[in-house]
Amino acid sequence: MLSNISKATIKSNRILSRAFISTWNSVPQGPPDAILGVTEAFKRDSSPNKMNLGVGAYRDDDGKPFVLSSVKKAEKVMMENNLDKEYAGITGSPSFTKAAGALAYGDSNPVITENRLAITQSISGTGALRIGGEFLNAWYPHAKNIIVPNPTWGNHIPIMKNSGLQLEKYTYFDKNTNGLNINGMLEDLHKAPKHTVVLLHACAHNPTGVDPTQEQWNQISKVIKEREHFPFFDMAYQGFASGDCTRDAYALRKFVEEGHQVILAQSFAKNMGLYGERVGSFSVVCADAEERARVESQLKIIIRPMYSNPPIHGAHIVSTVLNTPELKNEWLSEVKLMADRIITMRLKLREHLEKDFGSKKDWSHITNQIGMFCYSGMSPEQVNKIKSDWHVYLTQDGRISMAGMSSANVKYLAEAIHNVTKD
Ligand code: LMR
Repeated sequence: MLSNISKATIKSNRILSRAFISTWNSVPQGPPDAILGVTEAFKRDSSPNKMNLGVGAYRDDDGKPFVLSSVKKAEKVMMENNLDKEYAGITGSPSFTKAAGALAYGDSNPVITENRLAITQSISGTGALRIGGEFLNAWYPHAKNIIVPNPTWGNHIPIMKNSGLQLEKYTYFDKNTNGLNINGMLEDLHKAPKHTVVLLHACAHNPTGVDPTQEQWNQISKVIKEREHFPFFDMAYQGFASGDCTRDAYALRKFVEEGHQVILAQSFAKNMGLYGERVGSFSVVCADAEERARVESQLKIIIRPMYSNPPIHGAHIVSTVLNTPELKNEWLSEVKLMADRIITMRLKLREHLEKDFGSKKDWSHITNQIGMFCYSGMSPEQVNKIKSDWHVYLTQDGRISMAGMSSANVKYLAEAIHNVTKD
């Protein structure tokens, strides 16, 4: 009498002997994601000294994820209000989109007061960019060419290509100065075919931490206008660059004032610490309210087959914070606190490199760059070495997420950087 286990073994052997070939047999192993793959490698490392400077996610000075106090208070209010879990409309929560638009463009901006901003809630900044790419592909009346800065956030490239747009890069970063190559940028904008869509990081450029000055933004706006290009702003870090949300919106608002019909991808992942809530918006500046209604109707047609309608929890948090004056004030000071901690880390890292470890290299870019990232100038070999010898994880392009360091480990990081860069 065969036991049930033996019978099962015989049966599975028979299946194998029929030379089973899986339907997915030819699916190749894909590479890990350039940014999120760093976290996976970090998690596998058991060293007590390990540091994750890969993904751009803010940590407090104890290296812990930071849930903002304004956000916790908003959630308490939401609990007390006993909210339901009904579907949002396709374009999300109106109280959220209204507040999000006002934060980006300014309360009294004519695009808001004249009701000509088409806006939809999105699955954070990535989802907003994807809606934007799809909208351009469907409705942009010229050749579907988009140019992005060199370098840019890695995900911009597949998002735009998968949306069906032709993508090229324009000059942005100058390796010699670790700053902006404004002349190269203006020249490339000038050379691009008329009506090209130009992707611009509104502030705190990712990955370089290098932003144009206000004067340079004015020059950029002028060339874009002359060439009749179309500006697509990505604003994932409003408040994170300077600590001041109004100041960080300078470029976006200036372009609108200059008469550009911008489109915008906005995210609340970083400035409200709502990474996993996936809350953002996509907006289109229209000529009038009637055009706005037509554009919004097409945004709905794009969104409905992608994910039907957006999640509500994060949007409720943002609208509660932005629509409650005390919570909004508290949030604005928390944004400043996060930006200031990053600035302090920049100063300390540079100081340790120069004073404690006597590095003779020029590290001024650490304190000149702004926002979440420092584009360190480390080569891929140096990145590999700092990972294997010092358990410090960062993206292969040498980008350091400044928020991943704390008072306790900034000196260790300086020592590690000095050791891998000194030859
Ligand atoms: C980053 O650049 O690290 C962040 O924007 C997170 C992400 O999704 O890549």
